[in-house]
Amino acid sequence: MNITVFGTGYVGLVTGASLADVGHNVLCMDVDVAKIESLKKGIVTIHEPGLDVVVQRCFEDGTLNFSSSTEEAVAHGELIFIAVGTPPDEDGSADLQYVLQVAANIGRNMQDYKVIVNKSTVPVGTADKVKAAVAAELEARSSPLEFDVCSNPEFLKEGSALEDFNKGARIVVGTDSDRVVNIMRVCYGPYIRNHDKLMFMDVRAAELTKYAANAMLATKISFMNEMSQLAERLGVDIEQVRKGIGSDPRIGYQFIYPGCGYGGSCFPKDVKALAQTARTVGYVPELLDAVENVNTRQKGSMFEKLSKHFNGDLNGKTIALWGLSFKPDTDDMREAPSRDLMEALWAAGAKIQAFDPVASKECRRIYGDRPDLVLCEQRNDAVSGADALAICTEWKAFRFVDLKWLKSELKNPVIVDGRNLYSPADTKEFGFKYYAIGRSDSLAI
Ligand code: UDX
Repeated sequence: MNITVFGTGYVGLVTGASLADVGHNVLCMDVDVAKIESLKKGIVTIHEPGLDVVVQRCFEDGTLNFSSSTEEAVAHGELIFIAVGTPPDEDGSADLQYVLQVAANIGRNMQDYKVIVNKSTVPVGTADKVKAAVAAELEARSSPLEFDVCSNPEFLKEGSALEDFNKGARIVVGTDSDRVVNIMRVCYGPYIRNHDKLMFMDVRAAELTKYAANAMLATKISFMNEMSQLAERLGVDIEQVRKGIGSDPRIGYQFIYPGCGYGGSCFPKDVKALAQTARTVGYVPELLDAVENVNTRQKGSMFEKLSKHFNGDLNGKTIALWGLSFKPDTDDMREAPSRDLMEALWAAGAKIQAFDPVASKECRRIYGDRPDLVLCEQRNDAVSGADALAICTEWKAFRFVDLKWLKSELKNPVIVDGRNLYSPADTKEFGFKYYAIGRSDSLAI
């Protein structure tokens, strides 16, 4: 079927490429002409495992095309996905201007029936706004054309987005139209050959499902981070507690890893946006606010441990930092805990020697060249001569370290581990002061 995707960001490109990969005829549209030109050459600037291969293959096969022409994009698809950005406003609510611009463009240019699909993460009630924006343009043209708007939120994780698209637990579609149900069944038919994962529900329920899912996952993490703070003060190893509670199937092992706080483009933004939505309907979201506050405090705990260890004097110290991205297998540094740590260290007069397998370029883009930041090519270069090692991301390359070697490289045997990668017993044996998250001796006082 002919499908158009507006927006070639992370979600748009993964959606377009995946749908083209199962044989649909997809046109991806972006107002960024340079981006479209480089995509036509097969250049994918987003770091997502396997995405470049699928994009190149589908482009060569002719199932995936790119355009910066709104007219061409609207004419192409019977099904039009809106996957443009919804950056947070100052109060944390999602800014819908790009979504509504696309809606108006569709209304202005459409010549036949369209199903418009909201793929971007948008607050409850956005489908109605999109509908109104399209209808206003049709009315201005005195056009009687019909269209439907539905909600089809994405549940993609960075680093495994293609797999999530192809093998996700469910495909949620919010609509009240039988015509849309039939069209969406054709669109997602290739993904539901073995078991029917399509879930049809009300439009507003689908919109809230996306936020509720992310808020629930963020809640699990903040809960564990709060438990880790308790564990540190009670002399308990949180890793034993994690296993102890994860074994209960009602709780489960997933998303209960304590750490230096959640980051990324989704959890922080979505928790804030949902809390903001709650306020606009007159409800004070106590739990969502707490989830956010616990996370903010947790992100500060890495600096706090370092600062306490060095008696509040980090001026002139060099800190080795392993891991800049908000999680492994991505170069994304949006809301990454590493940023809170780096900014606090710089404010305290410290210098940073950082290494990340892929995010150095992104770090340079964000912070530019500065004398108190050295971006190292190798993991080992970053620790050389440093006063302490801090770990913010659990990249595979950090999972094993020769502690004897590490001790000889560092000026002081100090590790602040935001991802609980090493054994407190081993580090102790080699004479390290090992501050992890919620583990014995982790509390710096
Ligand atoms: C998330 C959701 O998982 C996905 O369904 C949604 O569509 C978008 O948001 P993503 O932001 O890519 O995906 O990352 P995810 O793997 O969920 O991790 C988010 C953050 O939580 C990371 O900073 C990670 O380090 C942290 N995290 C995750 C923990 O601290 N502990 C955990 O147990 C799990």
